[in-house]
Amino acid sequence: MGFDIPEPYVWDESFRVFYETLDTEHKGLFQGIFACIGENSQGNLDTLRDKVEKHFSTEEGMMKKNNYADYESHKKLHAEFVGKLAALSAPLDGPSVDYAKNWLVNHIKGIDFKYKGKLG
Ligand code: FEO
Repeated sequence: MGFDIPEPYVWDESFRVFYETLDTEHKGLFQGIFACIGENSQGNLDTLRDKVEKHFSTEEGMMKKNNYADYESHKKLHAEFVGKLAALSAPLDGPSVDYAKNWLVNHIKGIDFKYKGKLG
């Protein structure tokens, strides 16, 4: 997968999944990573982790409620990213920042997009 990485790193309409809560949370994840680029602090990394975990919980809840067929495999991808973030500490190095930036873009467009129109 290789979707374009926005520069500056900000959510745009091309990431819309058409569920307001999820689009709002996705915007927040972009902001969370953007904040870590601006001020590479443990506080911003912790905030990003919180936002990520809250978003995955919301999204998984919606998938489960709607008996989404790819729930288990999608959830596994979320858990992998949470694990990667948990292993990081501030200040993040360049490859870690790039990993997070790439992961979010490719996850939304490559994986989240598959549930469009299927979550009720
Ligand atoms: Fe929006 Fe699957 O994370």
